[in-house]
Amino acid sequence: MSIICSTSLAVLITIAFSCYDSIVAVAAPSNESEASALLCSGWWPSSVTGNTTLPHCMWPAVSCDASGSVNRIDLVEYKIRGNFSNMNFSLLPSLTYLNLSYGQLYYNELTGEIPLQICTLSRLTHLDLSHNFLTGELPPCIQNLTSLQVLNISSNQINGSIPPELGMLKRLTHVDLGSNALSGAVPPTVACLHNLRLLAFGSNELVDSIPLELGNLAKVKVVDLSDNYFTGPIPSSLGNLTSLTKLYLEGNRLGGSIPPEIGNLTSLTELYLEGNRLGGSIPPEIGNSTSLTGLYLGGNRLGGSIPPEIGNLTSLTGLSLRGNQLGGSIPPEIGNLTSLTYLYLQENKLDIFLRK
Ligand SMILES: *[C@@H]1O[C@H](CO)[C@@H](O)[C@H](O)[C@H]1NC(C)=O
Ligand SMILES: *[C@@H]1O[C@H](CO)[C@@H](O)[C@H](O)[C@H]1NC(C)=O
Ligand SMILES: *[C@@H]1O[C@H](CO)[C@@H](O)[C@H](O)[C@H]1NC(C)=O
Ligand SMILES: *[C@@H]1O[C@H](CO)[C@@H](O)[C@H](O)[C@H]1NC(C)=O
Ligand SMILES: *[C@@H]1O[C@H](CO)[C@@H](O)[C@H](O)[C@H]1NC(C)=O
Ligand SMILES: *[C@@H]1O[C@H](CO)[C@@H](O)[C@H](O)[C@H]1NC(C)=O
Ligand SMILES: *[C@@H]1O[C@H](CO)[C@@H](O)[C@H](O)[C@H]1NC(C)=O
Ligand SMILES: *[C@@H]1O[C@H](CO)[C@@H](O)[C@H](O)[C@H]1NC(C)=O
Ligand SMILES: *[C@@H]1O[C@H](CO)[C@@H](O)[C@H](O)[C@H]1NC(C)=O
Ligand SMILES: *[C@@H]1O[C@H](CO)[C@@H](O)[C@H](O)[C@H]1NC(C)=O
Ligand SMILES: *[C@@H]1O[C@H](CO)[C@@H](O)[C@H](O)[C@H]1NC(C)=O
Ligand SMILES: *[C@@H]1O[C@H](CO)[C@@H](O)[C@H](O)[C@H]1NC(C)=O
Repeated sequence: MSIICSTSLAVLITIAFSCYDSIVAVAAPSNESEASALLCSGWWPSSVTGNTTLPHCMWPAVSCDASGSVNRIDLVEYKIRGNFSNMNFSLLPSLTYLNLSYGQLYYNELTGEIPLQICTLSRLTHLDLSHNFLTGELPPCIQNLTSLQVLNISSNQINGSIPPELGMLKRLTHVDLGSNALSGAVPPTVACLHNLRLLAFGSNELVDSIPLELGNLAKVKVVDLSDNYFTGPIPSSLGNLTSLTKLYLEGNRLGGSIPPEIGNLTSLTELYLEGNRLGGSIPPEIGNSTSLTGLYLGGNRLGGSIPPEIGNLTSLTGLSLRGNQLGGSIPPEIGNLTSLTYLYLQENKLDIFLRK
């Protein structure tokens, strides 16, 4: 661990010279160790790094603060390849913003693992590594990134489990770990992230139950746990999340019945529960979630009859109950849903087949 935090100038100078002989030729770098870190990363083309009249603070996508220390790297409009670990982050202590996602023209193709040196960036507020080819695990030392507000590592190949230490990042407002190969359970410590607005863990290999502690995330607006291997019931504590607008739990193995507390979510606009193993009947309370525009309950084992209260959801534009075991007749109140553009009720045991 001491390796990661030590910043002896002797080491810095050695790095600078061992990396690239002409480091001294970079004209008037305000901070040589920072210049060497950028240079050694190999992320900038030689047309930039070889320009002796171009100080590193003026390299494309680099910004420096008033003291000449690198504080922003925003490489979304470049096609960078290579090993993410080639950047020695412990030499960039002022970095607040790092974005290596993609822009309008180019995609980056960074490989390798998330290096432990990244954990030294105590001022980092935004870390977006999404849409690269990063492998390995999310290191527990990310708990040191105490300023972090936005963490996006979506669409990589990160494996291992979600470190419980994530819960220490109290300033996080957005955490997107979607579309990786994360396994194991969701650590309940995630519920400590009281400022969270968005939690996206979709399209991973996560297992076990959805932690009921998530009911503590009072400010959360979007929860995406879709396309994993979650089992157990939908915790009724999610009914506490009165700021919630979008809940994506589709494509799991969730059982039990839909908790009536879902009806407490009066801000909820989209509810996706398709493709689970949900049984019981649809709770009439769902008719209280009157902000709903999309209600997708298809591909489950829901029985009983369709509650007429669904007719209270007059903002609905999409309703799917297809592929369940619903019986009885279709309640006439469904006719009150005048904004519906799509309605799927097929593959049930309903008395009348209706399609609009
Ligand atoms: C990164 O820099 C630190 C000094 O801050 C040094 O100790 C470490 O060996 C460097 N790591 C790599 C991979 O160059
Ligand atoms: C380079 O920047 C770091 C962090 O801002 C600082 O600690 C170090 O003293 C600077 N070095 C020089 C030579 O200015
Ligand atoms: C080097 O950078 C300067 C700006 O500092 C620019 O005017 C010049 O055209 C660049 N030279 C080359 C060869 O790209
Ligand atoms: C990174 O850049 C992309 C493209 O400009 C942008 O959509 C995204 O919001 C940025 N990420 C962060 C964390 O600011
Ligand atoms: C990336 O670099 C690190 C350290 O420099 C090295 O250990 C690792 O094998 C490299 N990974 C790849 C995929 O090149
Ligand atoms: C994280 O911070 C602690 C306490 O400041 C420190 O002891 C540890 O070495 C840091 N770890 C990393 C990987 O930076
Ligand atoms: C994370 O990045 C992806 C692009 O790779 C983007 O679609 C997604 O909206 C981002 N997440 C957040 C929370 O900004
Ligand atoms: C959340 O909901 C559960 C069960 O519905 C309840 O016992 C708990 O007190 C609620 N917690 C908060 C913080 O409102
Ligand atoms: C939440 O829903 C349950 C069941 O529908 C209900 O008994 C309870 O009063 C509701 N709580 C709040 C705070 O609205
Ligand atoms: C929610 O719906 C149920 C059943 O439809 C109803 O009895 C209850 O009064 C409603 N609760 C609120 C808070 O509107
Ligand atoms: C909701 O629907 C039920 C049954 O259709 C009806 O009795 C009730 O009055 C409705 N509640 C509201 C608040 O519209
Ligand atoms: C809803 O539908 C029922 C049955 O079709 C009807 O009696 C009622 O007036 C409708 N309510 C509204 C608010 O349109």
